[in-house]
Amino acid sequence: MTASATDDRRWCTATIDLDAIRHNVATIAGASGTDVWAVVKADGYGHGAAAVARAALDGGAVGLCVALVHEGVELRRAGLDAPVLVFGEQPVSQLDDLIANRLTPTVFSPAYAAALAERSTEPLGVHVNVDTGMQRVGVAPDAAPGLLAALRSHAPRLSIEAIYTHLACADEPDHPANREQLTRFDDLLDELGSTAPPIIHVGNSAAALAIPSARRSFVRAGIAMYGISPGPGVDHLCGGLRPVMRLSARVAHVKPVAAGSHVAYGWRHRFERDTTIATVPVGYADGVPRRLGTLPDQVGSDVLIGGRRRPIVGVVTMDQLMVDCGDHDIRVGDDVTLIGAQTAPDGSTVRIRAEDWAAALDTIGYEIVCGISSRIPRVPRRSIDH
Ligand SMILES: Cc1ncc(COP(=O)(O)O)c(C=O)c1O
Repeated sequence: MTASATDDRRWCTATIDLDAIRHNVATIAGASGTDVWAVVKADGYGHGAAAVARAALDGGAVGLCVALVHEGVELRRAGLDAPVLVFGEQPVSQLDDLIANRLTPTVFSPAYAAALAERSTEPLGVHVNVDTGMQRVGVAPDAAPGLLAALRSHAPRLSIEAIYTHLACADEPDHPANREQLTRFDDLLDELGSTAPPIIHVGNSAAALAIPSARRSFVRAGIAMYGISPGPGVDHLCGGLRPVMRLSARVAHVKPVAAGSHVAYGWRHRFERDTTIATVPVGYADGVPRRLGTLPDQVGSDVLIGGRRRPIVGVVTMDQLMVDCGDHDIRVGDDVTLIGAQTAPDGSTVRIRAEDWAAALDTIGYEIVCGISSRIPRVPRRSIDH
């Protein structure tokens, strides 16, 4: 179970378990009882959009979601033919690409509807986003009937395929905002009656797992598909998910240091005893946050070498970090797991999860995996032993 996932460009690799993507899509579909559209924006949350999208469709997803037109174009170039929804309105300069690549636009303003209608030569299906309380994008519920009428005036160049909203607090299933937003959305659907679009979608990962009333025609699942919990409020529902990204490296240098000496920029860590330092060639330019090494005793502020947790000491530098290995026999080339699991000397499994980094850094797992930079090669595998 120890890592061997490096490639020959450098001693650090993000291995992407495509079987885990398939498994997680099936798990989310089973838990929600609805279809799944796989959210692969931001290069598949840092996992590699095209490979993830292909695996997600293999695993039963029926559509894909992106944030930007060029993200959708990349999926088409990779040969993926499934429906691709673009969240959010886009610059007018992108609309010809959007249309030529058969991407599905989100619409929430009459001006954007008109710009799309002007350019579309064939009927173009659109999804209408309603802002029921996220206050990010979307048409206000009381303006939605007017927008739908404007869209209908562009028939047959535009057709309204779906209407959707997005919950702000789905990762806290008992938060009153969830009920408030769903009530606003359902009141609008009641008002629209038979003129409501045929397809309705609401839930993200957390809602798919935890909020039955947010499961409509399909769920838009991102983070859970990557095997990461949307937040502590739904951790208990994530046991069936498998982590997808494993971040591993190799020890590049080993050196003894004496008690009383310091390490890394600012000398913020002092060694109380003689010890051995292993240098790992991965740093904040790769997405390992600088602060991780200054948060001692928090899971995630360490790495796994030889099946044991070893603390990162001193600030993480741009390309390298240092690990305190005590008096253990560490060698150049030893496997280092930053996110993932190793087998401990007693045969048990030790694991560091993206969620552990997130907890140590007071953020969310999304930010951790999206932050793993493009300097780290992504190596898709059919299956990896976490
Ligand atoms: C509109 C919309 N739907 C769905 C998602 C997927 O969310 P999650 O990754 O929590 O499943 C996102 C992601 O931010 C989103 O912006």
